[in-house]
Amino acid sequence: MQQLRIKRAQALKGRITVPGDKSISHRAIMFGAIASGRSVIHNLLAGEDCLNTKKAFQRLGIKFARRGKALIVYGRGLRGLRPAKAPIDCGNSGTTMRLLSGILAGQEFRSVLTGDQYLRRRPMKRIIAPLTLMGAKIKAVKGEFAPLIIDGGDLQGISYRSPLASAQVKSCVLLAGLYSQGRTSVREPQPSRDHTERMLKYLGARLQTGKLSATVTGGSRLKGKKITVPGDISSAAFFIVAACLVPGSNLTITGVGINPTRNGLIQVLKKMGASIQIKNKRFFGNEPVADLNIKYSRLRGINVRGRIIPNIIDEIPVLTVAAALASGRTVISEARELRVKETDRIRSMASQLGKMGAVIKEKEDGLIIEGIKELKGAKVNSFGDHRTAMSLAIAGMLADGSTTINDTSCINTSFPGFLSLLNKLTKGDRA
Ligand code: S3P
Repeated sequence: MQQLRIKRAQALKGRITVPGDKSISHRAIMFGAIASGRSVIHNLLAGEDCLNTKKAFQRLGIKFARRGKALIVYGRGLRGLRPAKAPIDCGNSGTTMRLLSGILAGQEFRSVLTGDQYLRRRPMKRIIAPLTLMGAKIKAVKGEFAPLIIDGGDLQGISYRSPLASAQVKSCVLLAGLYSQGRTSVREPQPSRDHTERMLKYLGARLQTGKLSATVTGGSRLKGKKITVPGDISSAAFFIVAACLVPGSNLTITGVGINPTRNGLIQVLKKMGASIQIKNKRFFGNEPVADLNIKYSRLRGINVRGRIIPNIIDEIPVLTVAAALASGRTVISEARELRVKETDRIRSMASQLGKMGAVIKEKEDGLIIEGIKELKGAKVNSFGDHRTAMSLAIAGMLADGSTTINDTSCINTSFPGFLSLLNKLTKGDRA
């Protein structure tokens, strides 16, 4: 099992980039595949999750090629997919399984989707329910878990009130909506990331958006295009927090996506007293991008709850590291969704940061953290979850003594190159 040893870091200085955004990379491959004509994707994330999406579409008859560093997707139009000859393995990727289910629900053929031991334990009723309302027939283990057997075709548009603020659910329904009679709309209780809406519009779909809703017209055609994927703010998050916390740091991260449905970590850290400047704002397609400059500053604890939660859901693990070293108390509430991510991230962060001396308590829907002056190195576990592993690595950079993190190959899920970037920025000693 791969292990990572981290020691206290020196100040983080200089300019770095982070790999392409995971959510946008998945969508670029998927939407490119069902668009007509070629899409050329730049800065696509080469993490395992997105490779699983690419493999899934290869099985469904889509061809890909390389042009330099770019990936070319030869889209076959809405009706161009072919049945896969075997079950499609989505690996660890919830986004692959949930979004692909929406597309496959619209096909006239049967598909089977499966995943690794973690994905097969994650809730799927949230997509099975609306897809069934639209007319798809889906069988799942105990009506909830993968493998999913999807018999699609002949869908009717619906008006769906999602009980969750989940971009995966919203995207799944909108994608099925492309294959449905009439219009399909999704309304959510709070805004979730809107990359699907932005990219579908960019590729020419007929789609209207409101503050909490999106409506797509069935049969809308997508046209292949050049897509440049912004740097992933969820990956940048690890180095943003590290630069806030390691004295003397002055770090610039260039080309990071700052989509307003994703940039909540910056808002939260600023409220905690962080010095983060957003510079050189520009657009990649419909996605806003900027360079971020982060300087060391003293942080104070805050309360985090409500509308901001879906926006920062993937960044909460590393936010707990910031809270552990801020002055005063941080309370994170209404974040129950963390319990059904790649692992239960409330439990993983409370138990593992606790081993490092953090004063951190689980509550049913979040965490209570009393800031302390210093963490101490310890032996900790990722539970096979990439964001837990990287958050603990950042904690290790701030701890006295050395920290060993078990089971770190999962980092490749979303951030290949994390270790070399860490090495470049710090003088830690790792095995
Ligand atoms: C994602 C949406 C979020 C997020 C996940 C990626 C997406 O999940 O946590 O990492 O790409 O749509 P939920 O939709 O389940 O909240």
